[in-house]
Amino acid sequence: MLVVRFRKTAPAGARRVLPALAGAALPEELRDAASAALFTAGHGVVLDLAPGPLLVGIGTPARLLDWEQAGAAAALALKGVPAVLLDARGLGAAEAAAMAAGMALGAWRFDAYRRIPAEEAPPRALTVLVDDARAARAAWRDASAATRACLAARDWVSEPANILTTRDFVRRLRLLSRQGIEVEVWGRKRLAREGYGALLAVGQGSASPPRLVTLRWRGTLDAPPVAFVGKGIVFDTGGISIKGAAGMEAMRADMAGAAACAGAMLALARRGSPCPAVAVLAIAENATGAASYRPGDVLRTASGRTVEVVDTDAEGRLVLADALHHAVSRFAPRAVVDLATLTGAIVTALGHHRAGLFGNDGALAAALAAAGEAVGEHLWPMPIGDAHREDLASDIADIRQCLVGRLLPDACHAAAFLRDFAGEGPWAHLDIAGVDTQDAPHALGPAGATGFGVRLLDRWVAMHHEEADHHPAPGARG
Ligand code: BES
Ligand code: ZN
Ligand code: MN
Repeated sequence: MLVVRFRKTAPAGARRVLPALAGAALPEELRDAASAALFTAGHGVVLDLAPGPLLVGIGTPARLLDWEQAGAAAALALKGVPAVLLDARGLGAAEAAAMAAGMALGAWRFDAYRRIPAEEAPPRALTVLVDDARAARAAWRDASAATRACLAARDWVSEPANILTTRDFVRRLRLLSRQGIEVEVWGRKRLAREGYGALLAVGQGSASPPRLVTLRWRGTLDAPPVAFVGKGIVFDTGGISIKGAAGMEAMRADMAGAAACAGAMLALARRGSPCPAVAVLAIAENATGAASYRPGDVLRTASGRTVEVVDTDAEGRLVLADALHHAVSRFAPRAVVDLATLTGAIVTALGHHRAGLFGNDGALAAALAAAGEAVGEHLWPMPIGDAHREDLASDIADIRQCLVGRLLPDACHAAAFLRDFAGEGPWAHLDIAGVDTQDAPHALGPAGATGFGVRLLDRWVAMHHEEADHHPAPGARG
């Protein structure tokens, strides 16, 4: 991550970034150049006055997100500039820290497997010039937690499936114990003993064995945990119902839901959140082979319900069925949120700028949508109708996995399927298939993995689950 320092005096040799508010006067010596370029400090608009400063427009800021996005825009514009000076004199500590966080998000690249040419390379070091360095550093401690966690999720999602196998993903998740997160891993034997037949079936065609990973952050509040549940398919070939070759390489990102949940746990731990939280990650590879599960198979899930498999490419809902059941039966959480790159249908419906929001609890859905707006990760509410669930009636099992033919596309059916396994408490499902990666640079980063969900979940916890008396749990003390 971008190395960030806060100072009261400017180091020599760094390229200066100057934030500009709409309607505010620029320094005298820049005015002619700025007006010649018709620069009006519009939100996220940059004007490079090299060798002078890079101006970045803030517009009329209403939220810290506006400062983050301006920081990201500046970092995206500063290719080939290793050392940057952000002139944040006159800004509040929170605004300065938000701009630094945005610059770190914008400066992220996945360069594990290629050398980025010097003239293309993003900034590596940032000095933030501030009036009160102590206050700014304190604000940075909070802002940097979610930033680092988001970038960790981006890195995991970017790794190709020959490197990030199920075992390798688990190895990386075990490292979270350094941050005070407890990590428990179930392998094939334990999953079989406990009856996790859906996760086992999806993973059975691969040389990389399935795993159920539980991450736990104890927090300090005497309350039931919030639970995050993530789809962690390290590669999705479709299985026997094999996908077409075109675009299949994108399926290396089919573990983005699990990455986001793990990232959110990392954000809570780094921030020292008082809120108890668990993440249940269903990790497998959906491969083709002699051992693969088949259309027509009947699986017994951890909940005891049986499922008729119709299409082995609808593997996400199967692994989530076991993971959701695990979360609600083991932890009695106060709320469950699952994140999954679940359906192509949600991309058809909402495109690449919003994730689908499903669930069984209006207040939870509204709170998640508000948290998403606050961090620039937008959700849109989608329905689960009784008819969607009725369509899943099976002649041979308790429920059919999905539909074929005229009843497709099936983002709503997928959500209706999950609802059966999500227990009676508040539950929400985020279908992030369209937003886990982006083809072009976006408001908070370059093309590639976005880390969508990390900052959203962290913000949702901060807004709703960090006060002892906010949502008293049944029977909770205090
Ligand atoms: N991982 C895919 C969904 C996906 C599609 C994610 C495009 C990102 C981009 C999922 O496992 C899948 O294959 N879903 C099928 C379900 C269908 C067979 C019922 C789909 O949406 O086509
Ligand atoms: Zn998938
Ligand atoms: Mn699939």
